[in-house]
Amino acid sequence: MRPVSVWQWSPWGLWLCLLCRLCLGSPSPSTDPEKRAGSQGLRFRLAGFPRKPYEGRVEIQRAGEWGTICDDDFTLQAAHVLCRELGFTEATGWTHSAKYGPGTGRIWLDNLSCTGTEQSVTECASRGWGNSDCTHDEDAGVICKDQRLPGFKDSNVIEAHVRLKGGAHPGEGRVEVLKAGTWGTVCDRKWDLQAASVVCRELGFGSAREALSGARMGQGMGAIHLSEVRCSGQEPSLWKCPHKNITADDCSHSQDAAVRCNLPYTGVEAKIRLSGGRSRHEGRVEVQVGGPGSLHWGLICGDDWGTLEAMVACRQLGLGYANHGLQETWYWDSGNVTEVVMSGVRCTGTELSLDQCAHHGTHITCKRTETRFTAGVICSETASDLLLHSALVQETAYIEDRPLHMLYCAAEENCLASSARSANWPYGHRRLLRFSSQIHNLGRADFRPKAGRHSWVWHECHGHYHSMDIFTHYDILTPNGTKVAEGHKASFCLEDTECQEDVSKRYECANFGEQGITVGCWDLYRHDIDCQWIDITDVKPGNYILQVVINPNFEVAESDFTNNAMKCNCKYDGHRIWVHNCHIGDAFSEEANRRFERYPGQTSNQII
Ligand SMILES: *[C@@H]1O[C@H](CO)[C@@H](O)[C@H](O)[C@H]1NC(C)=O
Ligand SMILES: *[C@@H]1O[C@H](CO)[C@@H](O)[C@H](O)[C@H]1NC(C)=O
Ligand SMILES: *[C@@H]1O[C@H](CO)[C@@H](O)[C@H](O)[C@H]1NC(C)=O
Ligand SMILES: *[C@@H]1O[C@H](CO)[C@@H](O)[C@H](O)[C@H]1NC(C)=O
Repeated sequence: MRPVSVWQWSPWGLWLCLLCRLCLGSPSPSTDPEKRAGSQGLRFRLAGFPRKPYEGRVEIQRAGEWGTICDDDFTLQAAHVLCRELGFTEATGWTHSAKYGPGTGRIWLDNLSCTGTEQSVTECASRGWGNSDCTHDEDAGVICKDQRLPGFKDSNVIEAHVRLKGGAHPGEGRVEVLKAGTWGTVCDRKWDLQAASVVCRELGFGSAREALSGARMGQGMGAIHLSEVRCSGQEPSLWKCPHKNITADDCSHSQDAAVRCNLPYTGVEAKIRLSGGRSRHEGRVEVQVGGPGSLHWGLICGDDWGTLEAMVACRQLGLGYANHGLQETWYWDSGNVTEVVMSGVRCTGTELSLDQCAHHGTHITCKRTETRFTAGVICSETASDLLLHSALVQETAYIEDRPLHMLYCAAEENCLASSARSANWPYGHRRLLRFSSQIHNLGRADFRPKAGRHSWVWHECHGHYHSMDIFTHYDILTPNGTKVAEGHKASFCLEDTECQEDVSKRYECANFGEQGITVGCWDLYRHDIDCQWIDITDVKPGNYILQVVINPNFEVAESDFTNNAMKCNCKYDGHRIWVHNCHIGDAFSEEANRRFERYPGQTSNQII
C-alpha cells in the first residue's frame, strides 16, 4: 500500500507563517492566550489511510499528545482552517465517521465551529480542548487543495520521517526513514517492539504488534540509515532514539527491519466477500451495497477490471496482494448472487476499499452482465517487486552513432524512432543513448509473465521468445514532462542473469526455457545488446529527464508499483551526454523530488 503520509509543521514553521501573513497585510495574530499557546505548541498532521498527501484524518498535537477532532458540527469552513494549518491554501472537502480509519488517544476538539476565515483553529468555537463525548469512530478528516500556501518555504513543512513498504496488509511493512532528502532502511540489530511502536505511533496507528527482522517484508535498495535503535517507546520519532549511523559495510539489506502495527478496526472487510473460487483466496468479488434496510450483495462488472482494482479488493478482504484481476470468471461456480451492482471501478491501487475508488453511481453501465463476465480476483500473501538498479544506468550511459546497416533487426522490433523509416537505408546512422538495465526482484514471490508459454512470441532476429508485450518503457522527457524521444516499448525475454549468494537461478530464456525473475535475482540487459537504448537522433541539445518504467501497465502483480520508475537528469550538448542524479521514483522526499524536477533551475531547456 502507499505509505501513510504525515505532514506536520515545526513550531518554528508556524511562527514564520504568522510573520509572513503579517507581511502580506493579513490581520495580526490574536492575543487570545490559547492562540498564543497554539502558535507555540500545536502541531498538525494528516494521518490514517489517505490516498493523497493532502488528505487524511486531522491530528493535532497539544501538550505533547496527539489527538483527533470529532465530526459533530464539522463543516467545510473548519476544514479550510485546518488545511491552512497544514500548509495548504484551502479545503476541497471533509470526511466524517473515521473515513481514513479511527485514530487513537485524545479527542481534542468537538463541535468545532469555524467561519472559515480564522487564522488558527484556536480561534474557532468548540466545546474546549479535550472536552468531547465522541468515540474515534467519529473522527473527522479533510481533503485539502493540492496547493501550498504562498510564502511558505518547503523547509517549513516537515514531511513524514517514516514510511512502510512492501507489506501485504495496511499498517505493516519494511521501515524506511528519511535522511537528507533520501529514503533508507533500518538495520534489524537490537530491533524490538519499543522501536516498532515508535514507528507505528508516528504513522498514526496504535502500538506495534510485531517487530520483524531479517527483511521479512522484503529488502530495500539504496541507503541503510539507522542501526541499533534503542527506544523507550515514548519517543516521537525513531531519530530521537539513541542509534548508530551506519554504512553499507556494517549491515546489509537482508537485515532490513519491519513492523506490524495494531490497526483500528475499520469494518471494510465486512462489506466484501468472494464466491465460486477453489480456495478462500480466489473468487468472484461480491460487495455489499445499499443503506440500512436495503443492504444486499451484488457483483462487479468485469469491464476494465485489472490489477490495480484487484489489489484494492484483496486488501479490503484482508487477503494481501492481488495475483490477478480477472474480467471473466466462467470457470468458477456461480453463487446465489447474480445482480451487478457496481461498474466502472477505477482504482489507483492504494485505496483501502473499493468504495474509495472511482466508480459509476447507482446507474450501472456494463457491456456484459452475465455472472461469468463479472470481476474476480486471485489474492496472495506474497508478491514480486521489481526495481531497476539506478546507479548502473548512470555509470553505463553513453552515445553511439550506429550505422543503419547494423540496425535491420532493431527496426523490425520497433526499437527506433519512426523517422528511421524515412532514412536512406542502409546508408547513414542513428544516434542512440545506450545504458545497462539491471532489474532486481526484491519482493517475496517470483516475477512471472502473465501470458502462458503458448502465447509467447518468437523473435527470429534475436532468436528468443518474448513473454511480455510491454515490459519496460524507455523515454526522454523535457523537465515539464513532455516526451521528446519516442520511447520504445521494450519487450524482453525474462531470466535470472545472476542471483544473490544463497539463491539459485531458476529461469533461463534459451531453449524455450521458463521465463521469470526469481526473488533475490536480477535480469541484466547490457548496454551493448540490441534495442537496449533510446533513439535520440531527433532530439535537440538541452536538459532532459531520462525515464525508465518497468511493468508500466501493471500486467504482473507487484507489492509496490511506486518504485517501478527510474529517473535521471540528462544533459545533451549535441555531441556528448551527461546522465546524473539517477534514482528510483520514490527514493527522494517530495521536496528533493521537486528540486530534481526543477532541474536545471531554468524554465527553458536550452543548453547553458
Ligand atoms: C454538538 O454537535 C451535535 C451534533 O450536531 C449536537 O447534537 C450537540 O447538541 C452539539 N453539542 C453542543 C454542546 O453544542
Ligand atoms: C550521525 O549522523 C548525524 C547526521 O549525519 C550526526 O548529526 C550524528 O552526530 C551522527 N551520530 C553518530 C553517532 O555518529
Ligand atoms: C444460497 O442459497 C441457499 C439456498 O437458498 C442458502 O442456503 C445459502 O445460504 C445461499 N448462499 C449465500 C452465499 O447466500
Ligand atoms: C513543455 O516544454 C515543451 C518544450 O520545452 C513545450 O513545447 C511545451 O509547451 C511545454 N508544456 C507545458 C505544459 O509547459
